[in-house]
Amino acid sequence: MAPTDSEASNPVLIEGHRPVTPPDGVATWDVDPFDEAILSYPRDFYRELRAQGPFAWIPRYACLMCGRHQETEEVFSDHTRFVSSRGVGLQDFKLEKPWRPPSMLLEADPPEHTRARKVMTRALSPRVVKGLREYFRTEADKLIDRLIDVESFDVVTELAEVFPTTVVPAAIGLKENNPEFLVAYGAMVFDTVGPDNEIRRRAMAKAPDVVPWITQACTREQLLDDYIGADVHDAVTTGELNENEAAMLVRSLFSAGLDTTIAAISSAVWCLGTHPDAFAALRQDQGLAKACFEEVLRFTSPVHTFCRTANVDTEVAGIRIEADTKVICSLAAANLDEEKWPDASSFKIDRKPIGHLAFGSGIHRCVGQTIARAEVEAILTALATRVGAIEITGPATWRPSNAINGLATLPVRLTRQ
Ligand code: HEM
Repeated sequence: MAPTDSEASNPVLIEGHRPVTPPDGVATWDVDPFDEAILSYPRDFYRELRAQGPFAWIPRYACLMCGRHQETEEVFSDHTRFVSSRGVGLQDFKLEKPWRPPSMLLEADPPEHTRARKVMTRALSPRVVKGLREYFRTEADKLIDRLIDVESFDVVTELAEVFPTTVVPAAIGLKENNPEFLVAYGAMVFDTVGPDNEIRRRAMAKAPDVVPWITQACTREQLLDDYIGADVHDAVTTGELNENEAAMLVRSLFSAGLDTTIAAISSAVWCLGTHPDAFAALRQDQGLAKACFEEVLRFTSPVHTFCRTANVDTEVAGIRIEADTKVICSLAAANLDEEKWPDASSFKIDRKPIGHLAFGSGIHRCVGQTIARAEVEAILTALATRVGAIEITGPATWRPSNAINGLATLPVRLTRQ
C-alpha cells in the first residue's frame, strides 16, 4: 500500500519497494521529508538532517537521506555506484512502472545517457545561448518596465512564471505556446519525485489534459525550423536518434527548464527584496549579477531534493550501503552546510560559492545551466538598471513541492530609480 497522509508516523514502504534495514551506524529518524509543513519552511529540517550524521534512515520510506555537503556530493556525482536509471525520485523503476517513459537524460545511465547528452549539449551550446542573450535582455527589460510602479504585484505569477514560459518556448521554437500547461507539466515532473501524497496527486490531476498536449508539442511538426527544438530533431537526420527519442529530448527541455527557473527568479527577487544592501550593491555594480545568481542558487536551491539508487554494495563516510538502497539527496541542505560555507545561513551577494550543488554534480550536472544563467542574469540586470527599490508588500509564502524549493506568492512593489 502507498502511504496516505494520515499515516505520517507509520513506517510504510512505498509499493513494491524492496525492504531494507538501516545500515549500522545510521540513526533512524521518524520523519516525513515530504510533509507539506516541512516543505513549506524546510530550513529547520535541513539543519536537523545534517545533525543526524552523514546519513539518516527514514523508516517511512525505507530510504537513506543525506544533507551534508560532502556525502551529498559524493552520492550525487558518482553515477557508477549510485544510478539515475532507477529514477531520481522515491520510486524504484526496477520495481515499479514509472508514470511516464523515463527521461533519456535525467533518468538514464551511460551509455544511453552519453548518447543523449551529446545531442543536447550541442543544441544548448554556448554559441546558441550567446545568440539568445540579447533577446532575453530585451524581454526582461520590457517585463520589468511593465511592472515598475504597479501598486503591488505577485512576483511568482506576474514575473517569474511569465518570463521563462515566454522566452524558453520561443528559443525552442514552439509554434503554439501554452504557458499554463507548461507550468502544470513542470509540477508533475517534480512532484512525482516524492511519494503518493496530496502534493503529487494535485499535480497529477492535470495529467489527462497536459500530457497529450506536451507529447504533441515536442514533435518536429510543432517546432519551427532553425530553433533549439529543430536542432535536437536534426539528430534524426544524422542517425544519432530516432524520431521518438528526439521528441523525448525536447520534452526534457520543458520538464527540467521551467519550474527550476521560475523558482530561481522569484527567489532572486526575494533575496534582493529582503537584503536591500545587496540590491544597492548590484545597482552600483551590475557586474555582480553573475555572483548574485550563484549565491541565490546556493541560498535557495531551486531543486531541494533528488534521489539516487545504490547499484552495488558500497561504502560512503564509513557507512555500508546495501545495493538497491534509495538515497534521498538534499541538495538544499548541502548548500546550507556550515562545514562547507562559513555563515551559510546568511545571503552574501559577493560570496562566489564555488561547489554549490544547485545545478547538481557529475555527468548529470544541469545541461541547461547556461540558458538558466542567461535568463536570470537578464532579469537581475533589468532590475539593477531600472528599479530603485524592491519593497515586499505582504507575506512571502513557499510552495510545498516534492522537489522544487520555490515561492508560492511574493507581493512586491518596484519603484523606478
Ligand atoms: C535555475 C535553474 C535550474 C536549476 C536550479 C536546475 C537544476 C538541475 C539539477 C540539480 C540537475 C541535476 C539532476 C540530477 O543530477 O539528477 C539538472 C539537470 C538537468 N537540467 Fe537543469 N536546472 C535549471 C535550469 C535548466 C534549464 C533552463 C534547462 C533547459 C532548458 C535544464 C535542463 C536540464 C536537463 C535536460 C537536465 C538533465 C541533465 C542530465 O541528466 O544529463 N535545466 N538541472
